[in-house]
Amino acid sequence: MFRRVSAAIAAGLLIAGGLTACGGDSGGGNDDGKITMGFAQVGAESGWRTANTKSVQEAAKAAGIDLKFSDAQQKQENQIKAIRSYIAQKVDVIAFSPVIESGWDQVLKEAKDADIPVILTDRAVDSKDTSLYKSFIGSDFILEGKKAGEWLVDDSKTAKGPVNVIQLEGTTGSAPANDRTSGFADAIKADPKIKIVASQDGDFTRAKGKEVMEALLKAHPEANVLFAQNDDMGLGAMEAIEAAGKKPGVDMKIVTIDAVKDGMTALANGQFNYIVECSPLLGPQLMDLAKQVVDGKEIPKRVLTKETTFTQEQAKTALPSRKY
Ligand code: AHR
Repeated sequence: MFRRVSAAIAAGLLIAGGLTACGGDSGGGNDDGKITMGFAQVGAESGWRTANTKSVQEAAKAAGIDLKFSDAQQKQENQIKAIRSYIAQKVDVIAFSPVIESGWDQVLKEAKDADIPVILTDRAVDSKDTSLYKSFIGSDFILEGKKAGEWLVDDSKTAKGPVNVIQLEGTTGSAPANDRTSGFADAIKADPKIKIVASQDGDFTRAKGKEVMEALLKAHPEANVLFAQNDDMGLGAMEAIEAAGKKPGVDMKIVTIDAVKDGMTALANGQFNYIVECSPLLGPQLMDLAKQVVDGKEIPKRVLTKETTFTQEQAKTALPSRKY
């Protein structure tokens, strides 16, 4: 509603006494003067996602933004349905984390036609028409994959034999799976000793990580490194590694991405070897951008999240104050 009122002021259309920021515009998401945001979340597939949802919900509350939240259970059709319902409800701003990269042009066009700004959070879309969204806030997933690969190249300097990697990929077609795969491949090119012997979708979940790892360990007994594209798949795979009689972190080195508490605990305990951080705490920045865009201000097209990496020693130090 605020956005429409500011647009009306800018266009010189506000009639004194006839329209106020708090009421009168039946098009807004509510009539109490608050900004209404529709947020279409991917699901609850990982510890990262749970922390991300909490961050968005808490930040909305703190910013006084009325949040309409939906969980798509990792299905694109559910996210599209949720976005259409936010358009029908005439919310002030829509934010979502696209489960996969492709197939968004039509619904984004519908939002644009309804004059509702869209902010992408966490994951990108592959739309050629970038005017379909106002901003994209999140990590550089290529860099995350690259950092994981660079660690492996460095760690393999002392390896006597071949370094045979099993890669557990995130959800097929998702931006983090696509980008982490390419960033990792790019980095390990530096060392011909390192070979990816198997690479399969583990859907970013613990259960799938375990199931896929069980099968891959049987097919590839020569594997001695796991690159899991998130902590949860790494944690699931760790159970499969132990069940196969191998010691995680020793017989099979494990590098993952995220740095949620459970992953950091495994790292501090010596079961993981390295974690590249991916921060889920996007809520406060998202609410800030939403306020600005609803106010009709220009916002940056890309907002990058600051992130670090952790060794086993660094995890021991960081763990006690880890927020998620
Ligand atoms: O898009 C971010 C990724 O999605 C996180 O790395 C993963 O844990 C989550 O499910």
